[in-house]
Amino acid sequence: MRRKPDEMLLAQGQQFVLDNLTTNQEMVRELLPILRELCLFDPDKVDEAQRKRESEQAPGELDPKGPLMLQSIRDDYFGTYVEWLRSHQGDEGFKEVLAEMAENNKKFDFFRLQLLPLIEATKLMGYNEKNLMEYWSKLFPAVPAPIGVGATSLVFTATDKQGGQVAVKVPRVSLDVAPNALPSIALLNYFQAEMMKRARGIPGVAQLICADLQTGVQIQTLAKGYSLTPYPGFFDEADKARHRFTAFPTEEQIISFMRAICALGERGLVPGIGKKINYPNFLFDEKTGFTIVDYAEYTPLSDEQKKDKEFFFQSTGRDTTEVLFYVRDYLKKLSSQVIDKKSRPQRVRLRITKQYEKILQEHFPEQYAEMFARQYEFK
Ligand SMILES: Nc1ncnc2c1ncn2[C@@H]1O[C@H](COP(=O)(O)OP(=O)(O)O)[C@@H](O)[C@H]1O
Ligand SMILES: [Mg+2]
Repeated sequence: MRRKPDEMLLAQGQQFVLDNLTTNQEMVRELLPILRELCLFDPDKVDEAQRKRESEQAPGELDPKGPLMLQSIRDDYFGTYVEWLRSHQGDEGFKEVLAEMAENNKKFDFFRLQLLPLIEATKLMGYNEKNLMEYWSKLFPAVPAPIGVGATSLVFTATDKQGGQVAVKVPRVSLDVAPNALPSIALLNYFQAEMMKRARGIPGVAQLICADLQTGVQIQTLAKGYSLTPYPGFFDEADKARHRFTAFPTEEQIISFMRAICALGERGLVPGIGKKINYPNFLFDEKTGFTIVDYAEYTPLSDEQKKDKEFFFQSTGRDTTEVLFYVRDYLKKLSSQVIDKKSRPQRVRLRITKQYEKILQEHFPEQYAEMFARQYEFK
């Protein structure tokens, strides 16, 4: 039997981990660092005799002549993997899923070869976040600087094989998250990628193209526009000036934006909006309007978590109505960038509040009623 192509072996390993994500996280965590090795190993190529030898060995006592991979993977996990593969033999649906994953895996060469070492290097450097952008070009002259930065990611643009532009979201370790957290961040981003699949087809929402389980790298459609509030510390004044908006969104753009938030909500998803009035996940482009990036499953917070100001996942603890309400503050903040000082900011803000309330009444009556019931203030 011929060896299966690498991208197919990789797809098998990825699907195996996915199947175990919720039921056996302990195992998945242990497997992450050696996942590539696991995936590139073809279980069909181990002959029966050798497998028998392996299974008769006491744990820890490995056959020095056995494949290298077997020596570095706990026997029980490997056995589970082979068994799992066998249990899917002849399953057509399974084959289709694998074929799609394998197709995606082919696109990852660039990221494995270039970005993974880069993350490792960044991690080893223990870089100072404030001046990362400054010496980025010196350290990685071949790799363009990121277009966006979040709490756990760096986002780059890349050209896909058809010549189109895509966004590449790479997990990052920051100093406020332990450097050895990379595998968990990778896993977290992969979880998020799984959720992004649910948003397929919603206009005004960045779409997942594919994701790599081992590195947590995601490829997404490239959203137009800039963040109103880029992640602090990364971009210099010149960058920020370029990102400054000069026009206020049209009513149509605002409505589409709010529709996108509702559509995500209908699929159990919310964009992260952060603790403060802080909207790095809503990109705005004066021509094409808003695009939501960085959304995940809505996870209601317990009262205990609500009290904990530092709670890491707070940003997905707000429901659709809350996110929708924050749009008003976003618009107000945006207006302070686009109006000149003579235009009386107070009046402009009042006008925005009125416009926003009118939009709610006409287009989102249900959410409007809910905001009233929750006693949100419209002033
Ligand atoms: N698909 C995309 N297209 C364009 N820019 C993006 C895209 N995804 C993210 N970004 C930019 O990168 C920043 C960080 O990405 P994000 O997904 O928010 O990461 P994190 O999960 O770490 O917050 C965003 O605030 C945005 O500016
Ligand atoms: Mg973000």
